[in-house]
Amino acid sequence: MTDTKKSQHGEWSSRFAFILAATGSAVGLGNIWKFPYITGENGGGAFVIIYLLCVLLIGIPIMMAETMLGRRSRQNPISTMITLADEAGADKNWHYLGWMGVAAGFLILSYYSVIAGWASAYVLKALTGSFFGADASAIKAIFDDFVASPVKLLFWHSLFMLATMLIVVRGVNTGLEKAVRFLMPSLFVLLILMVAYAMTTDSYDQGVKFLFTPDFSKLTGNGVLTAMGHAFFTLSLGMGAIMVYGSYLPKDVSISKTVFLIAGTDTVVALLAGVAIFPIVFASGLEPAAGPGLIFQTLPIAFGNMTGGWFFGVLFFVMLVFAALSSSISLIEPAVAWLVENKDMSREQACIWSGSITWLLGLGTIFSFNVWSEFKIFDRTIFQLLDYLTANLMLPIGGFCIAVFAGWIMKQQHTEHELDMPNALSYQTWQILTRYVAPAAVFLVFLHVVGVL
Ligand code: PFF
Repeated sequence: MTDTKKSQHGEWSSRFAFILAATGSAVGLGNIWKFPYITGENGGGAFVIIYLLCVLLIGIPIMMAETMLGRRSRQNPISTMITLADEAGADKNWHYLGWMGVAAGFLILSYYSVIAGWASAYVLKALTGSFFGADASAIKAIFDDFVASPVKLLFWHSLFMLATMLIVVRGVNTGLEKAVRFLMPSLFVLLILMVAYAMTTDSYDQGVKFLFTPDFSKLTGNGVLTAMGHAFFTLSLGMGAIMVYGSYLPKDVSISKTVFLIAGTDTVVALLAGVAIFPIVFASGLEPAAGPGLIFQTLPIAFGNMTGGWFFGVLFFVMLVFAALSSSISLIEPAVAWLVENKDMSREQACIWSGSITWLLGLGTIFSFNVWSEFKIFDRTIFQLLDYLTANLMLPIGGFCIAVFAGWIMKQQHTEHELDMPNALSYQTWQILTRYVAPAAVFLVFLHVVGVL
């Protein structure tokens, strides 16, 4: 492996471009839509603590490992695993890890795009003043009415998939980079504004207490798994998205510093979303465990009743759609990169194929909110099953394998050289976390869920 190797898809123009893109991938619906509702479903504070611990002890070291694998091989995740296993003299079967990642990307995007479609529809609702003066029950009725219509959901899902494919067609350093450049700072400012609004409600203290005061009696084994799975989901880990972005990363960039910055930003955005949402939940007498509709049933109440609410409402949902777009492009990029590198396809063809498959898969999620809402497998709707399968199982399993590969299979001199840590202690810490702590934690959580522990 030479140091001059470059990806055939191009390279990020700078470290900043990679940070933007990887943060764009990490920050998305996971932070603003999913984190609040799963926190609500799992009782608050204790869940948040487990999630934070998982980000720190499992997520960050694995994110470094995943970026490193991509940068070393400069190929799509499947070919990366073939090349690096070969380099380390390891079994060829490691490439199945890449395949699982591509599969997880399709499955996640299929439902991610449906929810991003909701956010897009809410841009229009905000624009037309639907929330003006509305109370909690009126806002809930708007949401229920919307998700009951397969045609509406299909329309917005199709539109979102189309937008994703149009950006991905343009390639890494034009489409992807430009799309995220202005988004992050604006989203940040808006969230702070929402927190300021939450402070004006009577329930600010109650909301903050719910988020940060742990009550471990409220946390189940499955709650712990969901918290761990979410650490992977929110950091885009375990399926090759960060690997493929790492493959476009210039050689001289410090992986560790960059990863800390990305994971830190991602976590702050999620916590801000939580602090903005829960006071509104309590102030409006809503259920924290309302499920996937939570933000769509809470934030519009704020927009409908605050000064400047029309403007902030439109802006917020526009930002949410952009945050979702900068994540969705990373969900499909591993598959597109593989098709281009191995199936001799142009980027256009690769996008049409992968986009069409994802679009079709999305129908399952659309119908699980209306016509198939009673159809359950293992007691879950199709949407719930897809979410469980990907976030709670495939991503942690993928992350586990990445940790084992980087910690045990790759030659130490290679990982040391690639990571280029500031001192020996930081490298050793990474090594201990990747070799022992992260794999053991994933394993123990799985054992706990199946009832062995
Ligand atoms: N991290 C994204 C979010 O929090 O919305 C979702 C995601 C993107 C998950 C890319 C996995 C992935 F590979």
